[in-house]
Formats: sequence, structure tokens, C-alpha cells
Amino acid sequence: MDLSTTYLGLNLPHPLMTGASPLVDRLDLVRRIEDAGAAAITMHSLFEEQILLERKAAFGHHDAHAESFAEALSFFPDPADYNLGPDEYLEQIRRIKAMVDVPVIGSLNGATGTGWVDYAKLIEQAGADALELNVYFLATDAKETGASIEERVLLITRNVKQAVQIPVAVKLSPFFTSVANVAQQLDGAGADGLVLFNRFYQPDIDVEALDVAPRLQLSDSSELLLRVRWLAILSGRVKASLAATGGIHSGLDAIKAVMAGAHGLQLVSAILHHGPNEITRIRQEMERWMEDHEYDSFQQMQGSMSLLRCPDPAAFERANYTRILQTWRV
Ligand SMILES: Cc1cc2nc3c(=O)[nH]c(=O)nc-3n(C[C@H](O)[C@H](O)[C@H](O)COP(=O)(O)O)c2cc1C
Repeated sequence: MDLSTTYLGLNLPHPLMTGASPLVDRLDLVRRIEDAGAAAITMHSLFEEQILLERKAAFGHHDAHAESFAEALSFFPDPADYNLGPDEYLEQIRRIKAMVDVPVIGSLNGATGTGWVDYAKLIEQAGADALELNVYFLATDAKETGASIEERVLLITRNVKQAVQIPVAVKLSPFFTSVANVAQQLDGAGADGLVLFNRFYQPDIDVEALDVAPRLQLSDSSELLLRVRWLAILSGRVKASLAATGGIHSGLDAIKAVMAGAHGLQLVSAILHHGPNEITRIRQEMERWMEDHEYDSFQQMQGSMSLLRCPDPAAFERANYTRILQTWRV
């Protein structure tokens, strides 16, 4: 079975790779991930706040950026709580690159324009084969328009693209008013890939302690459907390659994402739950399903359920919405 795909211009033997996560913090785990057959490995993110904290430590109160972010930084975990500081992060990329044969994708995560370009270059120099940008931002300022938030994401993408030679993917939020428009603008800005979607963790309230209780819940397959919808809408309409992240736990999940239009499939929760061999299991399930259904290759399946030929995807979605409501009978 030919599962080969091209993601971010990288030729991969199949689409299954690890998504950004602490799975890369331990080299023995990285070894097991490669042994399980991952087609690529994504680093966890280097966070903008880590970069700012390091600059603050280096330049004290004279650093204008660190000062303006002083309040925001006060919410952040102690630098010692991050697994890897900026220097260790770059060193970990070098170590992983020296150890594995598969492509390694670096990851930068921030909300403003600070730090992206310098560290994008350093991540490239450390040997990363590609870079993922994660602009994780909750729009809470009522005075800031959606357009200005989108412009910031575009600016970061353009700046990083100009600074590095390696392919650059942008990990998107599903909460733009027009995901399709943002995707098209990023495509125009030169993004080589779009990763759908960031998960937004909802902190709970601890009513006894009168505090927020951040709790990380791993995904399940139900989260995939939001990704499938947008993959199907974007597939064939952007030049950038598409990756699904969020809710891939089985071969069937993988098949759905590929049919909708994914070139790459990122796994995190499945591996955190059950270990690196999930990559092997999901790949085997994919192959078995494809054989049973007489597919010869990934290419035959990729985007086969996209909405590219649908004249009016919005009307199609609205029809689905009303059909779904009608499936409920009291
Ligand atoms: C423990 C943990 C750490 C993560 N760290 C990052 C990160 O550093 N950067 C990032 O972009 N995404 C991060 N993610 C999000 C994952 O890359 C992925 O998008 C998300 O978990 C959805 O995929 P899944 O359903 O396979 O878990 C993290 C997820 C988990 C569970």
C-alpha cells in the first residue's frame, strides 16, 4: 500500500507524525517514536513568554519589551517549570536531529510579534526541517477588531517566512469569523502549511479555593469532526498543505481526515494515552481499511471528500445543519 504524501514540501512515507507535545523531551521516547514508524516529529513549542523571560533576565528592567509584558509575565509559570528553556530547546533539536532520520519540525508559540523571527532563525540553524507557528491568543480586548488580530497573524507569518528558508506551517484556531478567509490570506502570505486546529483548553473554577483550575483533558475522536469540516472546505482551495491535529485515535479517524483533505496527520493524545505504538496500530488500521476498500494509494483517497466541487459549501453546511436537527425525534 502506497501511503506516501508530501507535507510542507517534505516527502513522507505516510502521513502519521507526532504533534507538538512534551513527547520530545525524553530522547528514549523520541527513539521509540521513530521505531514505531512516525513519519516526522514535531517539537513542543518554544513559548514567547520563555523568550521574554530570558531577555528580562539578561537585560533587567531596561528591556522595553519585557517591561511592557511585565504584568502578563507575572501570570506565567516559573522558568524552572518549563521543561526546556530557549537554549536547551535549541540543543534538544540538535540532539534529536543527530539521533533520528525523520524530519523534525520546530514549534514557536506566542501571541504578539516578539521573538518569532530571531528564534525562527535559531531553530532553523539548529537543524529543524520545518517550523510550525502557533499563535495562541484569546481575543479579550473589546477595542481590538478581528481584522487587527488577523493582521498580526499574517504579519508574524510574513516576517518568519522572510527570515527562514525552511517551510513554515501555521497552526490555526477555529475561532476566526472566517476561517476560510484567514486560511486564504495565510496562503497568500506564503504559509507552506496550515495545521487545523489548536485546542483551546477551558480552565474550570475551583469554587472552594476560589481559584481557576486549569486541567488538561486529552482529546477523543469526537474532536476530529471540526477538523474534518474545515479540511473539506479548504482542501484544493489553498496551495498550502494541510495537517489535522485533534482527535485522531484510530485508522478510521485518519482515513476521514485524509478523505477530507489532510496531507499530514498529527497525533498527541493517542500516544500520551497508549504509547508510541499507536502510530503503528493506526497506520496498520489505515492500510487494512484501504485494502478492504480497494484503494491502492494515499493519493487516491486524499481530498476525495473535499467540498471543492461543491458550488456553495455554506448552503451545503446549512442543509446539513437542518438535517442533523431533524434526526432528533422526541
Ligand atoms: C501535554 C500536551 C502538550 C502540548 N504542547 C503543545 C505545544 O507545546 N505546542 C502546540 O502547538 N501544541 C501543543 N499541544 C497540542 C497538541 O500539539 C495537539 O494539537 C492537540 O493535543 C490535539 O491533538 P490530539 O487530539 O492528538 O491530542 C499539546 C498537547 C498536549 C496534550
